[in-house]
Amino acid sequence: MEKNNMSKKLSVRPRRLRASEAMRRLVRETHLNTDALIMPYFVTEGEGVREPIESMPGQFRFSVDTLIRELKETSELGVRAILIFGVPGEKDTKATSAFSRGGITQRAVSAVKENFPDLLVITDVCLCAFMSHGHCGVINEKGEIDNDASLEILAEVALSHARAGADMVAPSDMMDGRIHAIRAALDAQGFENTSIMSYAAKYASAFYGPFRDAAHSAPASEGKIPSDRKTYQMDPANRLEALREMELDLSEGADILMVKPALAYLDIIRDAREAFRVPLAAYAVSGEYSMIKAAAERGMLDEKSAVLEAMISLKRAGADILITYHAKDIARWIRSSSREAAAFGTF
Ligand code: PBG
Repeated sequence: MEKNNMSKKLSVRPRRLRASEAMRRLVRETHLNTDALIMPYFVTEGEGVREPIESMPGQFRFSVDTLIRELKETSELGVRAILIFGVPGEKDTKATSAFSRGGITQRAVSAVKENFPDLLVITDVCLCAFMSHGHCGVINEKGEIDNDASLEILAEVALSHARAGADMVAPSDMMDGRIHAIRAALDAQGFENTSIMSYAAKYASAFYGPFRDAAHSAPASEGKIPSDRKTYQMDPANRLEALREMELDLSEGADILMVKPALAYLDIIRDAREAFRVPLAAYAVSGEYSMIKAAAERGMLDEKSAVLEAMISLKRAGADILITYHAKDIARWIRSSSREAAAFGTF
């Protein structure tokens, strides 16, 4: 008797909308789409190079020629945007190889645009991989990271990427005022239409560890400067400061804002989505990639399900654009799941 009464009262049953694959698809609120994906690539000197990155299983350092071969597959999978990180042969204290015409990034960009004119080419604009000390700015005589002196070099770097044919530049250095400096330099040279995706809310994160191995860009201790980036990247404890950084970058001319890392910063993504009316990117960084890879290699979780779940959470939080080393895999998975339909339910 009591049992009957109970079920009579239960007129609202959320499980009804989960009853079948078709029903779940019908009421799904968030979707993954290859159009939103950006695949990062590390490009290095030499020829015929396809060097595995130890800290990032499944990722490689490509020379320009092998990158071109690789991109055939990438674009066939439907990934339409890539982010290029130059890994130079030579470093100094002025990051000269970051802005030289024949630099690795510049050569990679020209070759990619020549072979794949429709592929959106974005470049990381930073100095760390090109500096002997691995910091994102220049160190002056006082032994400090000199913000304003760094701006001049960053603007030069961005301009050299635009000249090589980059569609978009993505400054990741976290110096103050760099969006303004870059925008002004681009505009002055006729690159008004080169867009800027700002690593606006970029935290001083342990999750960049594998990247620094990949790009040989770990910061060294230099005099009073410690071997971390805490004086320029943001404190992971801060939320309001992220809004302030993003507001500033927008006012300086950023076209797209980015939150980085992604999974540990979903609240920041949501805040940004609610505060700003520009496209928002989330960067699932190297450590996020390698964590899943490592756990999957040990059989602790299923790579595909874990990655797709993490990605959909970024979209749900409010990200429009997903930068991820899993971009190619995701494109492949989305394709086969729409073909197999019911075989893989969730996405
Ligand atoms: C360069 C840069 C870094 C990343 C993107 N651009 C490393 C850093 O700030 O030390 C991290 C990307 C990743 O971990 O995947 N400043």
